[in-house]
Amino acid sequence: MDYKSEIINALKQIFPESDLAGAEESITVTPEGKAGDYAFPCFRLSKTLKTAPNAIAAAGAERFAGLKAGGGLIKAVDADGGYLNFTLYREAFSAAVVNEIMSAGEGFGGSDEGKGRTVCIDYSSVNIAKPFHMGHLYNTALGGSLYRIFKKLGYSVVGINHLGDYGTQFGNLITAYKKWGSEAELNKDGIHALLKWYVRFHQESEKDEGLNEEGRAWFRRIEAKDPEALRIFNLFKEITLIEVRGVYDELGVQFDSWDGESFFTDKIPAVVKELRGKDLLVTSEGAEVVDLESYKLPPALILKKDGASLYITRDLAAAEYRKKTYDFHKCLYVVAYQQNLHFKQLFAVLELMGKEWYKDCVHVAYGMVSMPEGAMSTRKGQVVFLKDVLKLAAEKTEATIKQKNPDYHGDGSLARQIGTGAVIYSVLQSSKIKDIVFDYDKVLNFEGETGPYVMYTHARACSVLSKAGYKPVKTAKISETAARHISGGEAFALIKRLNRYPAVVAAAAQELEPSLITRHITDIAQDFNKFYFAEKIITDNAEETQARLMLTDAVRQVLKEGMRLILLQAPERM
Ligand code: ARG
Repeated sequence: MDYKSEIINALKQIFPESDLAGAEESITVTPEGKAGDYAFPCFRLSKTLKTAPNAIAAAGAERFAGLKAGGGLIKAVDADGGYLNFTLYREAFSAAVVNEIMSAGEGFGGSDEGKGRTVCIDYSSVNIAKPFHMGHLYNTALGGSLYRIFKKLGYSVVGINHLGDYGTQFGNLITAYKKWGSEAELNKDGIHALLKWYVRFHQESEKDEGLNEEGRAWFRRIEAKDPEALRIFNLFKEITLIEVRGVYDELGVQFDSWDGESFFTDKIPAVVKELRGKDLLVTSEGAEVVDLESYKLPPALILKKDGASLYITRDLAAAEYRKKTYDFHKCLYVVAYQQNLHFKQLFAVLELMGKEWYKDCVHVAYGMVSMPEGAMSTRKGQVVFLKDVLKLAAEKTEATIKQKNPDYHGDGSLARQIGTGAVIYSVLQSSKIKDIVFDYDKVLNFEGETGPYVMYTHARACSVLSKAGYKPVKTAKISETAARHISGGEAFALIKRLNRYPAVVAAAAQELEPSLITRHITDIAQDFNKFYFAEKIITDNAEETQARLMLTDAVRQVLKEGMRLILLQAPERM
């Protein structure tokens, strides 16, 4: 229900002489204890009407009362200091909202704004042979959620895992493997064996410079596509991807492309040629760089003295390739804020190259997740594996379930759904740029603003419906008369909240901020629980019962779909 345009229409009728551009944004829900449903601050009109807000509000209320044609959905307008409070025909509003949700079903909140447009989302983008650790959680959850949000809005979405699979470190790792490792160990310990060799290489190469030289030699063999070098490297790649894919399945995220850095190496000469042709390359101490002085940025290093490409060179090739292949409307890079400079440089070089679409490239920066035990260091081998966090979260949840319900016998899948959902919720809960410290007890709590709380509320709605023998019918409609049973108190607050859901989904895409959805479904859950405890849903009045069950079903649907957008599963029983 587009109450905002109803309110703006009324305002236009009341103040034909005013400028209402952008006024929609200032409409808010009236604070508790005040008359009306929505409030409009009149100071916005002071400038054009040249009167104080209080006087505008008073005149507005009076003029509304005198309107001949009536105010559409708006029943009354009251002045309250410098505010105008709008009261809706609540029954009509409630019926419209519930009916819209019923008929749209899980499509509620979707739109076709993205029709015919493609959004590329580069996310997770793991490094081969490195542990998939807690630090990757933010990235993977954020990108995976944006993926679903943009799909919901009708975009074609391309999820890209820009694998870190190129660089001298792989030469080092082969050296370590040849010296201290074996295929059997690799198969047995997987990524842990790789980590062990990586750490040992760093320790020993400090004493023995010859190791680094061997590493570089192996890397040159990878580049020269030497079969033995490639065989071992591909083994490392496979082992890493097995680990990573397991976690992706658990988190419910997906990728359409796994073209990593090495995929772009043969596309680098073309990039260099173009840069040179456009006279953008200068030599600096033997290396080739693009000067970014005019952007007040350090120069972008394109080729090293020995002609080797860099991370940014491969990203230039990748950007060009993505534009050609997908003709994206937007290309999002979900990467930690530590790489702010890198992306500023990347976009600046693209602009200098005359690629107008550099404006469609966005660095979606996010904060850090750390464990209470402190910073992680791959070099020292101090890492917390994401897989282990999810596993422990599930175990702790299983214990909680058993404690609440001693007769519970499950196969662990419920605890996994809840545990994983709780972990994801914890990173999609606050604005993405914030750093967070992960705390199991807080995250796994069934109360407070947590994933389990929202999941539990959804299950509660399911259980109310099933106890009542309620069957959802897409074509079911609630009449305005029946809607009077859900047009007061807690029920109406809930309805207003449900109605805002589509706007919140659109804002989450606009601001690249899934946390808006997390926040909103948490509010819905809280409003529903207030309604649940304050008012009886099943009463001896059939019309009333049906109305409240339909509202409960609307809540169930919106929670389930909202949870899906932030990668949470929605078990029906908990
Ligand atoms: N693999 C990189 C890292 O772990 C992230 C890659 C991000 N994507 C990109 N196109 N640069 O730091």
